[in-house]
Amino acid sequence: MQFATLEWKNGLPFATDFGDIYFSNENGRQETEHVFVQGNQLETRFPHAQAGFNIIETGFGTGLNFFVVATKWLQLAPANSHLTFISTEKYPISYTDMQLACQHWPEFAELQQFFLPHYAQLKAGQNIWRITPQLTLQLWIADVMDALPKVTATADAWLLDGFAPARNPTMWSEHLFKQMARLSKPEISTFSTFTSAGHVRRGLLAAGFEVQKRPGFGKKREMIYGSFRGQP
Ligand SMILES: C[S@@+](CC[C@H](N)C(=O)[O-])C[C@H]1O[C@@H](n2cnc3c(N)ncnc32)[C@H](O)[C@@H]1O
Repeated sequence: MQFATLEWKNGLPFATDFGDIYFSNENGRQETEHVFVQGNQLETRFPHAQAGFNIIETGFGTGLNFFVVATKWLQLAPANSHLTFISTEKYPISYTDMQLACQHWPEFAELQQFFLPHYAQLKAGQNIWRITPQLTLQLWIADVMDALPKVTATADAWLLDGFAPARNPTMWSEHLFKQMARLSKPEISTFSTFTSAGHVRRGLLAAGFEVQKRPGFGKKREMIYGSFRGQP
């Protein structure tokens, strides 16, 4: 397992190898809400998710998206319904860094209490952790391209994270978009991402997704979101 090279700058985690941040300096939590929660209409969909809900994320990082989304699930979903949050991470942050990152978000302290003992046992490959009775985290410590072909769940929503495409071009590839199509169902699966890079848009369109733009978070002009229409 190769851990991330991470620096703490003004109390915020920075990935030295990618020259990029893990979450927004302005307000990481609000960015997650804007890009991923609103982008996939999770607050509208969770209350109706009687049969459960699967989320697939690329790039687990500090787990901020997980904590935000899981908290919404526990607040909004039917009590007997289950969220499976599947995420991939090629360069996990160390347990010590994860503890520090968690301290940044005391509002998720209860969930973090259940999560951190599992993270302390992190291993390469697939980790499956029952965080609460309504919530499972399936965390693949692997390149997203090695992990997704082994996933069998249908994604209700995709959270496309993973550093800016210009800094991490190999992740935002045709292989990723093809795997997304394989794990998506028409009229069910949605996606959102902070980027609006042209090749990401074109790749998603070619894989069978309809793609829309909306204003990005903070200084970012645009982001994209959409849903699966079916294999072209
Ligand atoms: C911007 S950070 C993600 C932030 C994260 N979602 C959070 O809530 O903290 C991007 C993450 O993607 C991971 N990553 C980059 N390339 C990857 C790849 N090919 N496969 C899996 N993970 C990757 C990085 O190591 C990093 O942790």
